[in-house]
Amino acid sequence: PHVAALIVAAGSSRRAGFDKLAASLGGEPVLKRSIDALLGASCIGEMVVVCPLDRWELLGLHRESFRVPVCRVDGGVERQDSVAAGLAALSGDATWVAVHDAARPLVRPEDVMRCFRAAQESGAAACAHPVADTLKRATADGFSMPEAVDRNGLWAMETPQIFDVRLLSEAYRRVGEQGLTVTDEVSAMETLGVATKLVAGGINFKITLPGDLELAELVWQHGR
Ligand code: CTP
Ligand code: MG
Repeated sequence: PHVAALIVAAGSSRRAGFDKLAASLGGEPVLKRSIDALLGASCIGEMVVVCPLDRWELLGLHRESFRVPVCRVDGGVERQDSVAAGLAALSGDATWVAVHDAARPLVRPEDVMRCFRAAQESGAAACAHPVADTLKRATADGFSMPEAVDRNGLWAMETPQIFDVRLLSEAYRRVGEQGLTVTDEVSAMETLGVATKLVAGGINFKITLPGDLELAELVWQHGR
């Protein structure tokens, strides 16, 4: 019962201000690092990379060079559209799908495997971590509002997020049908009333802002 990796890499890196997926992390593009991290997990049996053709070609990624069948498809305007495009491109052989942000190149294969085992036990699992900082809601001009936000029990979602392929496809069908906005698969699965087991692992932040790449480089050089 193999897992299809679905790597979403069709974003425009607006907040970073440079093509963060083409940027170097330890001498290889961030997108390549993310692909290799997922392929390092033995459960992965096929891969769909949602990525524009020009980025794919620019990075010189050759399908034949990977240990599993890899297919590339174009993405959509929002992340949820890109995930839907990736789901439509799956071969039909996989039982599970692991959706992963290409912008999280630091994830370790062992964390992918732990997430997969949790999915096998619970039906749905996602990498995530408990929130450490004090949380405040802010006004549009950046002033704290006098409101206590209880951090207890709050987790920040990461990827990969691993689900039964048919359930996640049904969830995204409903998201589309109901015109919902979701920023991850845990949220999409809520349309089915499915709760996801959260799995804490190693350092796995998303490269979002310019400084995140430098931080990722330090983590990479130091060893994940
Ligand atoms: N993504 C995607 N298709 C989109 C938007 C995002 O495949 N239409 C992917 C990104 O490439 C990234 C992941 O989803 O790997 C998480 O998105 P994010 O970190 O927001 O990346 P960007 O959308 O590229 O960045 P920004 O929001 O700053 O433009
Ligand atoms: Mg985005």
